[in-house]
Amino acid sequence: MSMSKDGRNKQPRKGIVLAGGSGSRLFPLTLGVSKQLLPVFDKPLIYYPIATLIMSGVREVLFITTPEDRNAFIRLLGDGSQWGMSFSYAVQDQPRGLADAYRIGRAFLNGAPSVLILGDNIFFGHGLKNLLDHAAGNPGATIFTSLVRDPSRFGVVELDPDHRPLSIEEKPEKPRSRWAITGLYFLDGRACDYADEVVPSKRGEIEIVSILQRYLETDNLSVETLYRGFAWLDAGTHESLHQAGEFVKTLQDRQGLLVSSPEELAFRHGLIDLEQLSALAERQGQSSYGAALVELVNQVRQYG
Ligand code: TTP
Repeated sequence: MSMSKDGRNKQPRKGIVLAGGSGSRLFPLTLGVSKQLLPVFDKPLIYYPIATLIMSGVREVLFITTPEDRNAFIRLLGDGSQWGMSFSYAVQDQPRGLADAYRIGRAFLNGAPSVLILGDNIFFGHGLKNLLDHAAGNPGATIFTSLVRDPSRFGVVELDPDHRPLSIEEKPEKPRSRWAITGLYFLDGRACDYADEVVPSKRGEIEIVSILQRYLETDNLSVETLYRGFAWLDAGTHESLHQAGEFVKTLQDRQGLLVSSPEELAFRHGLIDLEQLSALAERQGQSSYGAALVELVNQVRQYG
């Protein structure tokens, strides 16, 4: 492992998808199946964060699941080679909090910089790739914020006029801004050490905000803002899960383009070739998702 004092590391950035949790706000849907395997219109919820990771340039991903759901994730996603990636799996026996990703993921990361994404977070919008590329070039840590109506339900960041972070708080009673911290975090190689030092909060969780606080204290926290034109959805309640499905259906119907298809993104990022994409499309049977991939293959053949 080669890491300098400022947490910089020459290894490629690795991805972690936190896909455990209890999903209690979705009961009874999640009594028998993981939230992240539920459908958001035509694809499982977990496809959306995977799409974001592919766009981030990540190729190696660790999925953290509950012990009960592990096999279902493996059945769906395999070793990642179908999309030109490498997937591995770890279990979280209790939903101890988001910072737990960096305790469970220590061996996997082996000092590498990382992108952590929550398994129920959907990011979409023109220019997202630029923001992700920008974040990947920042030293230290980068968070992505979005305006919300009800900030006290989220981690909240207070920003100065230049959009630099002044303070961060988890679910504050009196929020200092409407900028919520979304479930996407770019952290450098120090994250695992910081995670080891986190003590549980009043609600009994080890909070990701405690890790971010360490970066903020040393002036190592950057903020990317998802302003107008970006959709950030989390599919954690019946209402938001339904809305996410509607959103994806509306965009796809209108534009005839797939939203957050890992197959398409793997192709566009050069991880698989057109023949592999075509084979993946055939494997989807008679579904509209398969038809959209076949259409994509035909269009590339025709128009390049
Ligand atoms: P939450 O929505 O905060 O929690 P949850 O999924 O358990 O749902 P609920 O509040 O309805 O009981 O979690 C956000 C994401 O992070 C979600 O994708 C699950 C994941 N998660 C874990 O994998 N492990 C954890 O310890 C926690 C807290 C969340």
